[in-house]
Amino acid sequence: MVSYVVTGANRGIGLEFVRQLSVGSDNSVFAIVRDKSRAAKLEGLGRKNVYILEADVTDRAAIQTAVKQVSEVTGGTLDVLINNAAFIGDGREMYGLSSYPPEVEDKIGEDLLKAFNVNVVGTVTVTNLFLPLLRVGKLKKVIMISTAAADAEFTRKVEHEGVVPYSVSKAALNMVVEKYAQEKRNREEGFTFLALAPGAVDTREMEGVTDPEQIEEMKKMFDGIVSSLQKAVPTFEGLATPERAVTLMLEVIEKAEPGSSRSFLSQYGNKEWL
Ligand SMILES: NC(=O)c1ccc[n+]([C@@H]2O[C@H](COP(=O)([O-])OP(=O)(O)OC[C@H]3O[C@@H](n4cnc5c(N)ncnc54)[C@H](OP(=O)(O)O)[C@@H]3O)[C@@H](O)[C@H]2O)c1
Repeated sequence: MVSYVVTGANRGIGLEFVRQLSVGSDNSVFAIVRDKSRAAKLEGLGRKNVYILEADVTDRAAIQTAVKQVSEVTGGTLDVLINNAAFIGDGREMYGLSSYPPEVEDKIGEDLLKAFNVNVVGTVTVTNLFLPLLRVGKLKKVIMISTAAADAEFTRKVEHEGVVPYSVSKAALNMVVEKYAQEKRNREEGFTFLALAPGAVDTREMEGVTDPEQIEEMKKMFDGIVSSLQKAVPTFEGLATPERAVTLMLEVIEKAEPGSSRSFLSQYGNKEWL
């Protein structure tokens, strides 16, 4: 039996991690969501080995409760932690650092701090609170879901000026992985810390977005990203399904030997991002 915790598990890539990991009925999969009332798709999996827990990654007390709940089921251990939850943006992702329009110019600092708070501080808090369980787990693997947008060379190649707070915070997250990996105790105990990018994945869900103008804007933004990727990387065949991206990432996670930390790899286990 292998135990997994997945954050941001109610939709997108997180939901798909839970779906694939819980196929093995021996596995225990703890799906952490912000709001259980929006976990219908998880519940719809109808799997007895999926435990739905509620915690915002910025809420330390809620994560402590989740750790306790996991511990009660597993007897105090955890094998694999997948830090998937992320703040992507509040609708200003298309702007560059110095091109926020005047009416929202003051939002850049706020956006940077929010991205850092969820994607870096939140991930570190979740990881630190689960570490005692991971230390007695069999596999000691901690995965941070990163992004090609955090890679400087890739950013140059695709000439991508936007999604700034997200990209900057994920670049910081890659260094977080390296710092955990270099902690003497973690090295000695055979921990594997991995920052892993999923590729470009179609997780567009317009759920809850009712404003036709906003829907149009979001579609335009995605289409723009896809066509700029296609221009820069002619072999790029379009957005992958969450199923394909998660299958590839799980191969990388499974193959990772004890103590083989890396910051950071693509879904192919290398630096090929698309
Ligand atoms: N899709 C892609 O092409 C792509 C590319 C590169 C990297 N990634 C990475 O892959 C991961 C999943 O992406 P996705 O496309 O599946 O994203 P998504 O569909 O936007 O889902 C994000 C998830 O994170 C959760 N979340 C956000 N803020 C949270 C918080 N403060 N506390 C707890 N949960 C929180 C969301 O919960 P709510 O539903 O409650 O908001 C949701 O479950 C992310 O780390 C992302 O950076 C995705």
